[in-house]
Amino acid sequence: MDKILIEGGNRLIGEVSISGSKNAALPILSAALLTDDWNTFYNVPKLKDIATIKTLLLHIGTEIDEDGSTLKIRTRNPETTEAPYELVKTMRASAIVLGPLLTRFKRARVSLPGGCAIGARPMNLHLLALEKMGADIKIESGYIDAKTDRLKGAKIYFDISTVTGTENIMMAAALADGTTILENAACEPEVAELADVLNKMGANIKGAGTDCITIKGVDRLKPATHTVMPDRIEAGTFMIAAGMTKGDILIKNCPMHNLEALTVKLREAGVEIQAESASGGGAVRIKGNNSLRSVDIKTLPYPGFPTDMQAQIMAMMSIANGLSIITENVFENRFMHVSELKRMGADIRIEGRNAIVKGRSSLNSAPVMATDLRASASLILAGLAAEGVTEISRVYHLDRGYEKIEEKLLKLGAKIKRVKE
Ligand code: EPU
Repeated sequence: MDKILIEGGNRLIGEVSISGSKNAALPILSAALLTDDWNTFYNVPKLKDIATIKTLLLHIGTEIDEDGSTLKIRTRNPETTEAPYELVKTMRASAIVLGPLLTRFKRARVSLPGGCAIGARPMNLHLLALEKMGADIKIESGYIDAKTDRLKGAKIYFDISTVTGTENIMMAAALADGTTILENAACEPEVAELADVLNKMGANIKGAGTDCITIKGVDRLKPATHTVMPDRIEAGTFMIAAGMTKGDILIKNCPMHNLEALTVKLREAGVEIQAESASGGGAVRIKGNNSLRSVDIKTLPYPGFPTDMQAQIMAMMSIANGLSIITENVFENRFMHVSELKRMGADIRIEGRNAIVKGRSSLNSAPVMATDLRASASLILAGLAAEGVTEISRVYHLDRGYEKIEEKLLKLGAKIKRVKE
């Protein structure tokens, strides 16, 4: 297992370019199951989670032709419509193949993902929706066994806004008989991007990006060509890195229009943010100042403050002036990074869904352990700002969602290196 060593205290200065979005690419690659000819996807990030979905698709019988960040992908005759436990347990987003497999091949056997470090994360809402669309679903030996002659359009209300739930059902409904209406649908930009790809394939989807999505089913879909959007969470993580190191970074390919909730809070905290081009994919300059101010944060589904940025902003609040209350509303157990940040001197108390962070003038280095993807990012940020050398173990979590992170940080002047444990 690898670990990362960071010598903190260096201002990050220079330019960084944001890679393709992990959470957009995962459903887009599984959407390729809906068509029988070659799709072309550009700007697919090289990440562990993307490798996992590729392994799963290859197992199903999908053909993949890869050239750098371009993926050509088609599924003619699948060898199986099963997503095995061995793969789903390493990445729960593998369950995103359920909707496409079932709607196109009328049968899917997908392992239930099981628990996760950040919460129970059940799939009940995905299954309820598919049942409403006429699927026959049984849970047997830890597997979802789903069958249908053809899914039928239905009116579906999600009790909780669910990102991959909305994506799974949107893909299922694209080839269903009749119209499906999704209410309280997730509004995340990655959902809107998937709808874009499906519409390029010939689907008839309206309203994606709002909480009511209408999908008129069609009989066949054709392949699509699409460039994956930049990763808003990677961009946000670099913004915080600039803020915490009093740095000056130009973030290229930055999806500012999807980062409103974060940038409002960062400006309130005293970070300077200057968009260099008006919208979408532009460059943004981020400057950290000598003193950071505390802000309160409540995570919510989009357009609220993203839960995927909660651990990172907590690292920042650990060195801000004053008291910050961070409320995690999306996942019930997403505070695993707190005890690690405390090992670095952070003053944080947890009360239920709230973390009360009393900012200190600095953090100290310590050996710490990454527990999930965004927790790893928060420890990297804390390490960049801390005095001394921070040693982060179990960094494989980081490789799931940040492309070439050490390389990008090194170019900005960070003192960071990966070593074998
Ligand atoms: N939920 C249910 N039942 C369901 C589905 C969800 O109760 O059937 C609950 C979850 O337990 C959670 C809430 O609904 O409390 C929201 O979960 P959601 O389904 O939206 O999460 P997800 O689709 O599994 C995606 C991202 C996560 C991100 C969340 C929230 C992907 C591949 N993953 O997960 O990304 O945190 O939405 O925005 O898109 C990450 O990248 O680090 C990551 C965890």
